[in-house]
Amino acid sequence: MTVREPVVVRAPAKINVHLGVGPLRGDGFHALHTVYLAVSLYDTVTVRPGEGLSLTVSGEGAGATTGPGQVPAGPTNLAWRAAELLADHAGVRPDAAMDVAKRIPVAAGLAGGSADAAATLVALDALWGTRAARADLLGLAAQLGSDVPFALTGGAALGTGRGEQVSPVLAGGRSHWVLGIAGEGLSTPAVYAELDRLRATGRVPDVTEPTPAEPVLAALRGGAAGELARSLINDLQPAALSLRPDLRRALRAAGDAGAAAAVVSGSGPTVAALASDEQAAVRLAAELAGVGVFRAVRAVTGPVPGARVVC
Ligand code: C5P
Repeated sequence: MTVREPVVVRAPAKINVHLGVGPLRGDGFHALHTVYLAVSLYDTVTVRPGEGLSLTVSGEGAGATTGPGQVPAGPTNLAWRAAELLADHAGVRPDAAMDVAKRIPVAAGLAGGSADAAATLVALDALWGTRAARADLLGLAAQLGSDVPFALTGGAALGTGRGEQVSPVLAGGRSHWVLGIAGEGLSTPAVYAELDRLRATGRVPDVTEPTPAEPVLAALRGGAAGELARSLINDLQPAALSLRPDLRRALRAAGDAGAAAAVVSGSGPTVAALASDEQAAVRLAAELAGVGVFRAVRAVTGPVPGARVVC
């Protein structure tokens, strides 16, 4: 049954507390062992009945059409593609007016576009009354992008394959982070390509498989910030630093400001700085907002749930 009221869904940003990147596969993707953590910074997707598809985008990155850091409001937007994919899967007409309100910075390594796609799948499944099985939604999500299944499930999860195969993992408590958004966005394919180049030229060690995630999984289970701080790994970090040397300063600034640890989030350029508790995160955010290396600073906590209907 089709719903006549607007459906509002919010979906969280993610950080990777572990990002082990294996060799380039034949299909152009890299084998991953990653540990995703959904954090309390959300995009909101609102869908209403409409004739054909339409999309408006507001907030961070809205109004532009091309390049990293900019969000298209047309068919190339991942939310639009999510709508077409679900309509096709369910055998319904793709009729909806969609609005994406962005708070997750764009091309920042926080999977904001993936959050929008996941939120759209959940919202339109409710609007159109398609009642897709969870496994089907996860399958559609995987077709849209490697990080989209995790944006559906949220929480904390191990990602394997190219990151699209997610299994929930236990987090012993909430961790507190400050996200430092550093300058212009970075393109994910460019960062992976830079890692391949650094490995081919021997500037970073080559690998035959992704770095295992066990230490960070144990730290997450234990729930102690100190142990988590010691086990953060991001194999993409050298590549992000190679493309954006100013990120070294951003990482140093986080350490100097009292972070328990700091790591580039995903393909960057966001720096995820771990705080020992909530109060420390508030202090760290205030400090980092004042140092002049970040365009924006956000204090967040995780794990939080994945894409959910809010009204
Ligand atoms: O899956 P998604 O569309 O987010 O991937 C964007 C790009 O990032 C891919 O085209 C690929 O260049 C790179 N990528 C990769 N290995 C992964 C995930 C993404 O090389 N596991």
